[in-house]
Amino acid sequence: MINLLNIFPVVSPDIIWQKPKLALDPWQVEADNFPVNGTFSEKLKFLLNYAVLAPSGHNTQPWLFKIVDDSVELYADQSRALPVVDPNHRELIISCGAALFHLKIALRYFGFQDIVEVFPDSKNPSLLGRINISSKISSSEETKSLFHAIPKRRTNRLPFADRPLSSCLLSELRLAGSSKHTQLQIITEENREAVINLIVKGDRLQMANPLFRRELSQWIRSGKSSRHDGIPAYAQGMDERLDGIAPLISLVIRSFDLGKSQSAKDRKLAATAPVLVLLSSKQDTFPDWLATGEALGHLLLRARVANVWASFFNQPIEIPELRSRLKTLFPENGYPQILMRLGYAKDTKPTPRRPVNEVIC
Ligand SMILES: Cc1cc2nc3c(=O)[nH]c(=O)nc-3n(C[C@H](O)[C@H](O)[C@H](O)COP(=O)(O)O)c2cc1C
Repeated sequence: MINLLNIFPVVSPDIIWQKPKLALDPWQVEADNFPVNGTFSEKLKFLLNYAVLAPSGHNTQPWLFKIVDDSVELYADQSRALPVVDPNHRELIISCGAALFHLKIALRYFGFQDIVEVFPDSKNPSLLGRINISSKISSSEETKSLFHAIPKRRTNRLPFADRPLSSCLLSELRLAGSSKHTQLQIITEENREAVINLIVKGDRLQMANPLFRRELSQWIRSGKSSRHDGIPAYAQGMDERLDGIAPLISLVIRSFDLGKSQSAKDRKLAATAPVLVLLSSKQDTFPDWLATGEALGHLLLRARVANVWASFFNQPIEIPELRSRLKTLFPENGYPQILMRLGYAKDTKPTPRRPVNEVIC
């Protein structure tokens, strides 16, 4: 027999107010659900939903957060490192820097002030930053627009439309990617072919390396995997109906050198992209990598404000010899950190994220 109480459960007045719940899927976070009456810790946990929407190499999400009094500490989660493609943890720290930028924007949007100490403990290099949070400020229009771009950002690997970015927008993006430690270079026609050749070479070398393929294949998953990390097939531009055969795709990547087809595909994507950009840092130290991540976060969100998508071509930077060649092409710029194409395209589905309670230590 149907129990009507199951369909219309009775709620007594004193339990109508519920403690703020953490959204299980961070992509579902909504600013209206900010726990205004919650504790400081509940507010910070809510804001971490925005931090974890940042990009990360192979979607490893290599960050951990610790709430200590009026501050949040950001840690590198070394257990999520990629020893083959990123042996020095350069991209791991860049990913954490992007999450730091997201968190700062979310804090400022909700009226908090942040003062960040980078690498505050010389004995513990995993502690990347301590964000000290203080009194209320009013958020700027720029902060508001960057904040609203957070849930709209993703890496878009589809071909980009044959539509140029205006020079005014390019200047704004250059500004977003530039900081005390970083510089964004818009790649000109003069160097474009040389850069594309390095991307192609990078694909060939990486795919010919069984260790690289094995590591990559370990992070290819179904979008429905309970692990909520890694790269689903649809994020590579494949039909979403292929999600179920993720284990087969992973096996193929592990077993075969697909360098020829991958490099041909990337050559076309790079050659048809309206813009290629290179994000570089002045030095090549841990703080430079963290600052690069922040600049990357800023650039990607600023791009989304203007409805522009980004996609990475980091392969030549991940191979020391090709990175040196890229550096030689842009001698004024310091150390190449991130290579990307920018442009307009169709929207794509977001990749999974671990819920906030899994990244709090
Ligand atoms: C430091 C860094 C390096 C990356 N390198 C590449 C790359 O070389 N090729 C690529 O397709 N995606 C690259 N990505 C994008 C990640 O795969 C992507 O951020 C991750 O899968 C999460 O997806 P999302 O950006 O759509 O949220 C990189 C991201 C970061 C932060």
